[in-house]
Amino acid sequence: MNDAHPAVGLLYNPASPDVIAKAGSLVDYFAVMPDRMWFDFGAQAESGRRFHRALGALAEVQRLSRGRVLAAHGIGLSLPSAMPLDEAFVDAIAAMSHDLGGFRWFSEHLSVFLTPKGSVPNAQAGLGLPVAYDDEAFDLIAHKLRRLRDKLGCPLLLENGAFFTPVPDMDMSEPAFLNRLHAAGLSGTLLDIHNLYVGERNGGMTMAAYLDEIDPDAVEEIHLAGGDDFAGFYMDSHSGFTPPEVWEMAFAHAPRFRRLRAITFEFQETYYERMGTAGVIAELERMHELADLCHVDPQPGPRIPHPARPARARATPQVATEADHAC
Ligand SMILES: [Fe+2]
Repeated sequence: MNDAHPAVGLLYNPASPDVIAKAGSLVDYFAVMPDRMWFDFGAQAESGRRFHRALGALAEVQRLSRGRVLAAHGIGLSLPSAMPLDEAFVDAIAAMSHDLGGFRWFSEHLSVFLTPKGSVPNAQAGLGLPVAYDDEAFDLIAHKLRRLRDKLGCPLLLENGAFFTPVPDMDMSEPAFLNRLHAAGLSGTLLDIHNLYVGERNGGMTMAAYLDEIDPDAVEEIHLAGGDDFAGFYMDSHSGFTPPEVWEMAFAHAPRFRRLRAITFEFQETYYERMGTAGVIAELERMHELADLCHVDPQPGPRIPHPARPARARATPQVATEADHAC
């Protein structure tokens, strides 16, 4: 039997070791955020002294990733910003990948986090700002993705943003932009279905319209998460469990994504106590039910073996295929 299903896992945070200790059999994989595993002293830092890794963090990831798929999820490159790619930052990601045995894939956001303006060279926007989807933005991002791929050498994914207001009169919709990146062989899509819910709740494109337009073969990872209401907006706060509306869309559409590598739950560690370990475990169990409905096409897409798994049994170590080089 050569059946393959997406891996189920977590975006790694300080609460992840506790979840893995209590329900390791449910965590096939996790994605680390390199940006959260170092202190960045900025481009003005002395050569070789810019990035200081958090003490012990890598060793713990190394220990927990044994027998699991390990990917990386960046938050600091701000690829759509009209500024050059931060080469030193990318080099630091590549070095971390090397030290951890190779990230299976690397994802980043299709949102603007850095806003060069005035006396501050790289000001943090504080939240992901939308991109104007036009040819100019495509060329800018395409150039950076090519460079990133050369340096990291593994598959790249871009994640749809969580936006709080519709942005009218764009040349392309976001799914059309992501489809174009996929068609050009530049990146797959990390489809955050909760981000789609955020957009719909805040007056943007409906989840149904978005999911109708996205190329199902572009989608290689799904994010699930929960949020809450604040000041008249629905926020992508990762403060709780996946809402029923998001689950409904996930179950309706994920089985169409025949290149799906992974289904990932995102939560903020500060909410872990409130959510409870049992709650996170229930979320992972439901994700496995979803993964079992998704049959990944081994030709020519990525393939992550997913053995028959009795409830709560430890998943067999995942292995790479020739189509799936690690960074
Ligand atoms: Fe996400």
